[in-house]
Amino acid sequence: MKKYIRVLPYINKKKILSILKNDSTKNYNFPNNYYFFNSWRAALKFILLELKNNSNKKKLTVWLQDFTCSVVADAIIESWLDIKLIDINLNYYSNDINQLLKIINKVDIFIISHLFGIPNPDYVNICNELRKRNIIIIDDLAQTVWAKINWKEIWKLSDFAIHSYWFDKPLSTLHWWLLINNYSEINIINNYKKLNTESNSKQQLDLATLLLRYEYWISQYNKSDSNYTVSKINLTKFINEAINNKIIFKNYKIKNSYILKIIKYIYIKFLYKLKIKKTQYRPSIEIYKMWCIKKGYIYSLLNDYNKYKNFRVENSKLIIDIINNKKLNATYPKIPSNIDVAYNRFPILSKSITENKKLLMLLKNKNIEAGNYNWQSTIWDYLKFYNLIDYKSDDFPNSNFAKKNIINLPIWSNKIWNNF
Ligand SMILES: Cc1ncc(COP(=O)(O)O)c(C=O)c1O
Repeated sequence: MKKYIRVLPYINKKKILSILKNDSTKNYNFPNNYYFFNSWRAALKFILLELKNNSNKKKLTVWLQDFTCSVVADAIIESWLDIKLIDINLNYYSNDINQLLKIINKVDIFIISHLFGIPNPDYVNICNELRKRNIIIIDDLAQTVWAKINWKEIWKLSDFAIHSYWFDKPLSTLHWWLLINNYSEINIINNYKKLNTESNSKQQLDLATLLLRYEYWISQYNKSDSNYTVSKINLTKFINEAINNKIIFKNYKIKNSYILKIIKYIYIKFLYKLKIKKTQYRPSIEIYKMWCIKKGYIYSLLNDYNKYKNFRVENSKLIIDIINNKKLNATYPKIPSNIDVAYNRFPILSKSITENKKLLMLLKNKNIEAGNYNWQSTIWDYLKFYNLIDYKSDDFPNSNFAKKNIINLPIWSNKIWNNF
């Protein structure tokens, strides 16, 4: 049986090719409240700084859930705002209205996270309560694209919504991010315009690297090497393949010069070094705006989204069937029928650490890739490490439970689960 890679993204090769060849200055018609940044955290930092500079309050307090990606905390810390944490609801890994109401009077800015592709089912109530009190609402849509509640897109109720386009996200690219602004109290356009832009060649190289990385993963997926997992990518092999790679230099007809090869070598090496370093040390967040080339690719992805979203929905149904048929001792999110989910990863929760280990072994023996990706530590753990927080370790029991007992199954944008 084939071994799975962690996430198989949807890549529109034809589009990348055409953008690399001719589209570099074309202007795409995005709504004028869409702003493009170099990273999710950069978009958040930009917004927080704008809000801070336009507020008469001495210090704004930003609330976010304890169970989420730690870079969210980085952006808040680097904006020099107060950071406060709230527990999650274990049914859908976000907050519910009762949890919010307990702390609502202390909130200036509230970040609502929609993890794994699941929109928060309490979203409408939560936004209503926040709105009544003039609290700024930011949607974390890093893992959730165009999810709907009652057939209405979730981001429409917030002040700012930030999407992510990292490789393992619902819309996969490499390095660019979208912020949707519904907030009219402050004018962010002037400061946005003043941001530096990436050069055309850097953008082209990013697109080419995206293809290269995709081709590499696909080639690994097709080799039925049972020991292979993406996390074990051999760095040297990857760089060698990149240098000798036919994809960039032949198929895509980018000039095959030694200078370009050297730049590419340094770039790829740097990219991976950075990734490795990230766990020990994070450079401070730099903010750039994005320009035509990458925007063109995002434009095509958004148009294609419904095509590959369906595969993700089908794949998640297959996982649910496996859990039920094999009577696995685990729970998975029960989503109300008025909610439109397209899982990015499928989260299942075991009852204890022992059960969790058993379940992981069982899935492994069936050659189903699964693991506790990304969520071994919470924001509390992260802030504690830097001595930045005064909460007690048991202030967030659900979040603590989730970090120990969650298992994620990758969800793909094409049909490969039919192996079962
Ligand atoms: C929930 C969540 N929010 C935000 C981010 C954005 O992080 P980045 O700045 O790396 O795009 C991520 C990345 O994995 C995430 O999972």
